[in-house]
Amino acid sequence: MFSDPRDIAAAAVGRIGAALDAADAMPTLGVATGSSPRTVYELLRTKHQDGEAALTQVAAVALDEYRGLPADAPQRYRAVLREALVGPEHTGLRDVDLHVPDADAVDPVTAASRFEATIASLGGVDLQLLGLGENGHIGFNEPGTPFTERTHLVRLEDSTRHANSRFFDGDIERVPEYAMTQGLATILEAREIVLIAVGEEKATAVQAMVEGPVTTDCPASILQDHPQVTVLLDEDAASNLEMRSASSV
Ligand code: GLP
Repeated sequence: MFSDPRDIAAAAVGRIGAALDAADAMPTLGVATGSSPRTVYELLRTKHQDGEAALTQVAAVALDEYRGLPADAPQRYRAVLREALVGPEHTGLRDVDLHVPDADAVDPVTAASRFEATIASLGGVDLQLLGLGENGHIGFNEPGTPFTERTHLVRLEDSTRHANSRFFDGDIERVPEYAMTQGLATILEAREIVLIAVGEEKATAVQAMVEGPVTTDCPASILQDHPQVTVLLDEDAASNLEMRSASSV
C-alpha cells in the first residue's frame, strides 16, 4: 500500500523492467487503459527520454477495446495507448507492435480467435498490467463471466458505462454498449500480473478481490489463483482490507 501515487508507478515500472529483462525472446507487455496505469506510462516515457528504458524491442497487447466508436474517436483504446506509448517521442514502442482486439469486426468470434492467436504467436504475455472496475471487473469481464472465458465480445453493465462516462464528457449515452475483452482465462495465462487500484470507490472491489472467496461475482478474485500477482494500492483503495496493518499488500 502506498500513500504517494508516484511510488505505485515506480513499483509497477520496476516489475515491468524485471519481467521484460527476464523474457527469452522479444518480450510482450499486456497494457491496460483507464486512469490507473496513466502514471505508469508517464514514468515509462520519462525513463525512455532519459535513455533508461525503452519499449523499442517490446510487443504490447491491449486488454480490451470498445465496439462501435467512430474511427477517429480519442476514447478508442488503440488511440489512448498510441498516445501514451507509441513512437520514439513516447516509449519507443512501434505501432506495428501494438496489438488491440478488432472489436468492430463484422465477425467478432473470428476476430477474438485471431487476437488469441496473436498473443500465442508472441509467446504469451510476460507481464499484464490491470486496473480494477468498481464492480470487480478486470479488462471488461463483468461479474458473472465464467473464469474459462477467452477473448470475447461483452455487453457492458450500466455501472461500467457510468464509471467510464467521465471519458465521454459525462454522457453515458456516448459510452459504447459493447466491447471486446481478453477473457479471464486469457488474462490468467500471463506469466506475471500487476494490478493497480486507486481511490475509495475501489475499496469494496479490492476487499472482495483479495480477501473474499474466489467467485464469478467478483471476476478479479480469480487472481488469487495466479502464482505471480502484485497488487498496488493507495490508502483509499486499501481502506476496507482486514490486512491493512501490513505496509504493503
Ligand atoms: C475500464 C477498463 C478496465 C479498467 C477499468 C478501471 O472499465 N476496461 O480495463 O481496469 O476501467 O479503470 P480505472 O483505472 O480508470 O479506474
